[in-house]
Amino acid sequence: MSLELKPRVDALRQKVKEKGLGEVLGRVSPGEVASVGADERRVVIDVDFETYLRAGARIGEYLGVATILGSVMLGRVVEVRRRHVAHIAHIQTLYAPVEDPEGLKTPAQIVLEPLTECPMDALDKCEPTPVYTPVDPLSVVFRPSPELIAKMLGLPKEGILLGKLYAGGFELPVEVRLPERAMYQHVLVVGTTGAGKTVLLKNMALSTIDAVRNATVLALDLQGDYLLTTLPPEAPGVYQPLDEITVLMPVTRHLIDRHREDIQRIAARNLGEEYSLLDVTDEREAAELVGRALAELFVEETYPGAKVLNAETKTEDKRLVEVVAKVDAGGRVFTLRLLPWAMRFREVYPEIPRFFPFFSERVSMLFRRLLEKLAGKDLRDIDTVMKRLESEVAKDADKDSVWKDLRLHKSQVDNFVRGMNMIYETGLFDVSYAVAEPTGRRVFATFGEPDYMELGGLVVVDLRGFREAPSVASAVVYRVLSRVFEARDEELARGAAPSPTFIFIDEAHYYFPQEGAREDFNKEVVEAMINKLTRLGRVRRMGVVFATHSPADLNDLVIQLTNTKIAMRSEPKVLERVDMSEYAGELAYAQSGVAVAKSFIYRTHAVTFKTLPPQTRHRGL
Ligand SMILES: Nc1ncnc2c1ncn2[C@@H]1O[C@H](COP(=O)(O)OP(=O)(O)O)[C@@H](O)[C@H]1O
Ligand SMILES: [Mg+2]
Repeated sequence: MSLELKPRVDALRQKVKEKGLGEVLGRVSPGEVASVGADERRVVIDVDFETYLRAGARIGEYLGVATILGSVMLGRVVEVRRRHVAHIAHIQTLYAPVEDPEGLKTPAQIVLEPLTECPMDALDKCEPTPVYTPVDPLSVVFRPSPELIAKMLGLPKEGILLGKLYAGGFELPVEVRLPERAMYQHVLVVGTTGAGKTVLLKNMALSTIDAVRNATVLALDLQGDYLLTTLPPEAPGVYQPLDEITVLMPVTRHLIDRHREDIQRIAARNLGEEYSLLDVTDEREAAELVGRALAELFVEETYPGAKVLNAETKTEDKRLVEVVAKVDAGGRVFTLRLLPWAMRFREVYPEIPRFFPFFSERVSMLFRRLLEKLAGKDLRDIDTVMKRLESEVAKDADKDSVWKDLRLHKSQVDNFVRGMNMIYETGLFDVSYAVAEPTGRRVFATFGEPDYMELGGLVVVDLRGFREAPSVASAVVYRVLSRVFEARDEELARGAAPSPTFIFIDEAHYYFPQEGAREDFNKEVVEAMINKLTRLGRVRRMGVVFATHSPADLNDLVIQLTNTKIAMRSEPKVLERVDMSEYAGELAYAQSGVAVAKSFIYRTHAVTFKTLPPQTRHRGL
């Protein structure tokens, strides 16, 4: 046996070279126990001083081991030890400190945690496993090539690009991807403000459109981040900015009131000098003029300096369905598909308690009957309903009333009336562009909801107008998400594979608050929505990516129902909430863009990566 060992040990070095596995750094230390156990795996490596000086050693980097028993392992550096000869020789400082530089020429000791292994002789076809075989002293340690690292980590080759592998403080030329199927089990991104969450989400959105056929990416946009994905970044990236985006633009009564004159001014300009919108007798033309004006206002506000080159407007009767505009932003031309969005009370009222969180449980249950008793045939629009409500409230308390019929207590009546007033105040219902004329009120255009089946590509829900109104933003979001869910549900019911839908929710605590975090939110409504999207969404090929800087304010269910967690620069408390405390050291002061992804998808359970720099224009902080 001893006769065979020497050639075997010597040959290992040669094999590493022949197979091109990487540069040899040293051997597993004969002076230490190399231990591979169920809980702890630690191997100490001696690197001679010269190699150490030349090649360095970095915490967190990946190293390879070719073992005496014939395995190739990949491990991560967890510690590097340096000692002066004085320490080895137990020389104590007696009079003057030891200053002999020669004493530095000791080997460096690197402590490695082995992660995965493959048989050396079947490396090409190998699916890496956890480490099962022992590591003998004198096994050869090398710095692996990027290809070998990718292989040994078992990183998925396809899917949504998250970034590049990051180890030892450097980015490696190895892509880290999240497979499509992991997206359907949902993702949560946490990290402090400025850590790079929004950049990651936007890049993932671009990559999703690139990687998944027929994907719809629905982005909830509170800050206007996704609206910039049509514009190039400072430095060109891997992905091109999008040539086309769809924007769901909530049109409220307040917005129309604010821009009533602007719309007339722009319409007049588009008509030529001597006419005004009010002179246009053709109803279709009038609606089209309003649509074009809305698109110009949107572009002016969103892309300063940009111009609408041409716009095609689609109407159904007086309803403005969409405006497709070619936009020129400083030479960059893209297509903007603007879908004005508002709700019709008569169509949505039975569902209102499911997306407005204002109503108590009892009132929610009776909501539909209450309205039908209250308004009956007058249930045409919210204005007539509010009038009926007003007169019912004005009645004597002991007279026959709807409240009495349904045996509502005073507090329940109050809850209903207050909720209805709040709903009315949102201005989201029965919206039209109308102008008072001597002959009466003339309606030029009305607004409704799009055909949710028809949505595709990047669809941005523009929520900039609701930054100070979380419950209104949530109502819009819940309604849109429910309708998108129903569209996929219909496809499923027809026996077709639903078309893939990915929902990107930045600042997710805004829409899905933790129980008790905001008193105007009803827990049942919030949790029913999360359940629908995540639990039921999965089979309907819906994947949700949530992000927040404040997971303490985010509903527990989101944390429970996201199987992939991505943590960026964070405080220990934040990491604890997503069960990633073990990365506190790595992430406390991490650079923007550095992240740990923890997922059942990865063989090593977690992978550290750096996101790509912004691939389209980014708002910054
Ligand atoms: N991978 C990256 N490379 C370089 N800079 C980045 C990267 N990711 C983010 N940044 C920078 O960090 C800043 C904050 O990113 P952002 O995504 O807006 O943070 P968050 O949404 O977490 O508050 C951005 O202005 C961006 O320029
Ligand atoms: Mg952000």
